[in-house]
Amino acid sequence: MSRRRIAVLASGGGSNLQALLDHQHTLGGSRAADVVLVASDRAEAGALERARKAGVSAAQIPADRPRALTRLLDAHEVDLVALAGYLKLVPAEVTRRFAGAMVNVHPSLLPDFGGPGMYGARVHRAVIAAGVRSSGATVHFVDDVYDRGAVLVRLPVPVLAGDDERTLAQRVLRAEHLLFPRVIQALAAGRAPTTALTLPMLDPALNDAENARLVDRALLRRPHSQAVPDDA
Ligand code: GRF
Repeated sequence: MSRRRIAVLASGGGSNLQALLDHQHTLGGSRAADVVLVASDRAEAGALERARKAGVSAAQIPADRPRALTRLLDAHEVDLVALAGYLKLVPAEVTRRFAGAMVNVHPSLLPDFGGPGMYGARVHRAVIAAGVRSSGATVHFVDDVYDRGAVLVRLPVPVLAGDDERTLAQRVLRAEHLLFPRVIQALAAGRAPTTALTLPMLDPALNDAENARLVDRALLRRPHSQAVPDDA
């Protein structure tokens, strides 16, 4: 199967983009997708700089002009779109065009603590204020309502006594970096879970390699969709 062509949309520093680029590099010839475009609504987004360093096309997009975005995606023959800290609502014209082929990473266990205005530190503040025992990362399909598209995979992390928004954000970001590239690889390879999957809780005491092995194992164990044919 030929590799899928991914565009990443990001508004911020782009650490999730970096995690994806690094994971694809590690996978080498077995990667199912390549990042061919990084686009941002903000010219100064760190994500654009990371793209340039990796030799990937970087572009600023006017967030409110669906045709310009569609043209850019078409020009790069994109067939999967990944939102990684992209803070604008993607126009419905674009989400419909990429239905089932556009994912977002969100820093909570959706559907909890999602929706308009729920991004960055606000999410973690709300989680701590609610007194819940776990939070985590969610990768979900994007439709034209913020954070409401079907969930693909959730990776929980514990909320620990004494956590503040900064310590919780760090733990959740670790989960995002493990989950996001792996779900994209699974989706691109036609091995994404067919129903919402919640993985075992990330163990903060383990190192990243150990947690990555557990995530890989849990993702592989599940029933998955059929491979997408070349001409899909
Ligand atoms: C992450 O927490 C992501 O879940 C959220 O925005 C943050 C972006 O981080 N949507 P980065 O730009 O990938 O470093």
